[in-house]
Amino acid sequence: MVRRPLRPVALPDASARVFEHWLGELAERLDDADCDRSELCRETLYDLHYPGGRAYHDLLEDPATPPATRAALLALDPHHITLEPEYYHEIEPEKYARVKPLLWLWQSFDRSPLGGGNVDVGIRLRRILAHHVFKTCGSNFKCFQFVEFSFGYNMEVGDGVVVHRHVLLDDRGGIVLANRVSIADYANIYSHTHSITDQVDVTSATTVLEEGARITYHATVLAGVRVGKESMVGAGAMATRDVRPYHVNLGIPAKSIRVKPNAPVEGEVTLDSALRRKGRDS
Ligand SMILES: CC(C)(COP(=O)(O)OP(=O)(O)OC[C@H]1O[C@@H](n2cnc3c(N)ncnc32)[C@H](O)[C@@H]1OP(=O)(O)O)[C@@H](O)C(=O)NCCC(=O)NCCS
Repeated sequence: MVRRPLRPVALPDASARVFEHWLGELAERLDDADCDRSELCRETLYDLHYPGGRAYHDLLEDPATPPATRAALLALDPHHITLEPEYYHEIEPEKYARVKPLLWLWQSFDRSPLGGGNVDVGIRLRRILAHHVFKTCGSNFKCFQFVEFSFGYNMEVGDGVVVHRHVLLDDRGGIVLANRVSIADYANIYSHTHSITDQVDVTSATTVLEEGARITYHATVLAGVRVGKESMVGAGAMATRDVRPYHVNLGIPAKSIRVKPNAPVEGEVTLDSALRRKGRDS
């Protein structure tokens, strides 16, 4: 293995200034308790998707505007779209109404030319939004593109958390991501489940990823599972039961195959057999 920390990448000064200005203005508007978040969402998406166009309402109300364009214009306003979590029985409508415009802005930004895989601006915008969507959000939250939430307001996120592209964070029953948690591409974290006999019998259970836990690519963590401190769920694994601190769990269902060599002694006492100490002894 070779140590390969991320290298710094600089943007041209002129573009960096434009991004800084835009994001600063957006953050300021969101910090204002009286901010109309739906209007902010609609205006921002209009500027992103129809740059330099006519005034939004002019275009929308002009009979010459084709119906598909009018439908697309309406969809920039969160009042005129529905999102899947709105259909969930246990939704808290007031809480959701506060976050819906920001979740729609987040998702729609990701599909804009400015968004998607554009790392620098994308991470900074999502960090601003996360602080206004999540129940709690620590410092330096880093989130790549096409990440989806259920309610968003049931997310509790610590410091230095990283979420990579195409992750699903289903926070219906609550998700806790403690400090330094890392979730790799295409992973799924659930916090609700359905009865096998009755589809509408839904159980919610908070899913907790403890400090430093790593969920690696394409892995799934089911509702109510606690992924222990500094543990790892390997690529493609399905965590159906708790993962012990410092353990590496692989497979479907995910089972411990070893303990990380840096586990403290108290971590070791949770081992089932000497075999699992392979990682430390070799
Ligand atoms: C957990 C992981 C690192 C392997 O850990 P490891 O302790 O070095 O395991 P090894 O490579 O020594 O493999 C041990 C055994 O597990 C198997 N194995 C390895 N990864 C596996 C996986 N994800 N699922 C099932 N089995 C796996 C190996 O084939 C090997 O089996 P064998 O003994 O029958 O040959 C790797 O599976 C993994 O998940 N990598 C993800 C990388 C990552 O960090 N992604 C995040 C990027 S942001």
